[in-house]
Amino acid sequence: MERFRVLTIILLCSVASGHGQNRRSRYVKEAQCETWDPNRDISNKLDSYTPSCAAPVSLLESGLYVPIAPLDDDYKLPYWFNSTLWNIGQKFAQKNIFSVFLSPIAGASMFITNKLKEPVVIGTGKSGTPHTSNVRYLATMLQMKSWFEQGVKASSKGQISDHIIKSLTKVRRIHRAVNRLNASMLYGDSPPYLDPHNTEAFTYDAAMWDAFQKDMDASNVPQQYRDYPDHVKYYSPKTAGPTMNQLLFSLVQWACGSIPILMPERFGISDATEEDLLGYMHLWAVLGNGLGIEDRYNVGLQPSLSAAKKHYQDIFNIYFLPTLFQAKPDGQRMLEHFYRGFVRNLLGQTGDSIISVHQILLLSIEDTIGIPCPRVKAQLGIVQRAFRVPLSYVTQALGRQTPRTIINELIKRRYFISGAKRFLNLNANDPAEIAEKSYYF
Ligand code: HEM
Repeated sequence: MERFRVLTIILLCSVASGHGQNRRSRYVKEAQCETWDPNRDISNKLDSYTPSCAAPVSLLESGLYVPIAPLDDDYKLPYWFNSTLWNIGQKFAQKNIFSVFLSPIAGASMFITNKLKEPVVIGTGKSGTPHTSNVRYLATMLQMKSWFEQGVKASSKGQISDHIIKSLTKVRRIHRAVNRLNASMLYGDSPPYLDPHNTEAFTYDAAMWDAFQKDMDASNVPQQYRDYPDHVKYYSPKTAGPTMNQLLFSLVQWACGSIPILMPERFGISDATEEDLLGYMHLWAVLGNGLGIEDRYNVGLQPSLSAAKKHYQDIFNIYFLPTLFQAKPDGQRMLEHFYRGFVRNLLGQTGDSIISVHQILLLSIEDTIGIPCPRVKAQLGIVQRAFRVPLSYVTQALGRQTPRTIINELIKRRYFISGAKRFLNLNANDPAEIAEKSYYF
């Protein structure tokens, strides 16, 4: 029961010490963005480091009313792009490939069910069954893998690979289409997400979610983080701003790229230097920019690692912890589909009977986020109990070189290479093919 408290204390200590054991970075200046002026003119800044910063968490809510930036066919890297940090970030991601993908998997428990995101994802009809959900997220993760692997162009240091630009542009087009779809649904078309002829669509383990809810209620998460702040609680796209808005994008950016920076050890990242983490943060800052996030809402833009950790902890507390208490059955069902689809991709069609949804929930919420789930655990059968022991050591094992290499290889071969072949008929190692064809929308 003490784990949540312990996690918070560890995080606060590491914030206070600025992640003491790590080397100081040569690439980011300390505390240069202490005051944030939303009207400042940044157009003439020619600093080659990372002088631009996200707004404080208390001001992120204004992003609810700001649409994601319009698609620009001729995408230019931001003036703060730093190819050294970008390279460091990519190397870090490649070395820790399982850990960095565990971030959206663990984060999914908090962002798929998020009040702002849930209706949008339901609406496209791609998360309605374990199969469609697997293909949808496999397509997403294939793009991300390619973003982590395609380097800076050898010829000119200030430009990233054309494959990444192409991929980002396509994803932006998908997001634009999602926005249009949402707008049309707001005016009456019903969401297409449940196909009555597909029995697979109705997977929903009500007993497990009931146990999960009771575990959350019994946890020692402070009362103030059990409900959304008012601007989210009372948000309705019918009366407020655009559904694909800047706040929502910064939250998804957090879930995809910031958790390993906030709690690296919990994701099996034990030997990261400060530069590694700053590089990974910068990589996500650039990707966020490429997807239309304005600097002020770009959570990858931070003046220092210690400031980033504080920022990410606040986002976690304010925007993500409430999702564990406020999730609705539709969101839980989509999360279940995501988990089942992911394990079936890894282990075959009956994979979720080998590693159950309970296990992934425990791995995400208890082992990585640090909130105990005794009631969910009590529902494990004998075989699942036997699996629980090695699974709960996965992230610890990642701290050692040999197991890390084995687990990284397993995820690359089973999930990415064989999954891309089976479900999308694509070669996961061909960046041109991934950038052009790996979409499921
Ligand atoms: C930094 C933030 C984000 C990243 C990195 C990201 C990444 C991606 C990628 C790579 C795809 C392509 C998947 C495919 O091929 O089908 C995609 C599609 C999609 N994204 Fe995003 N996205 C982000 C933010 C958001 C936000 C804020 C929303 C809002 C709910 C969203 C909703 C969707 C939807 C609905 C699709 C189409 C697939 C589906 O129907 O579920 N994304 N995203």
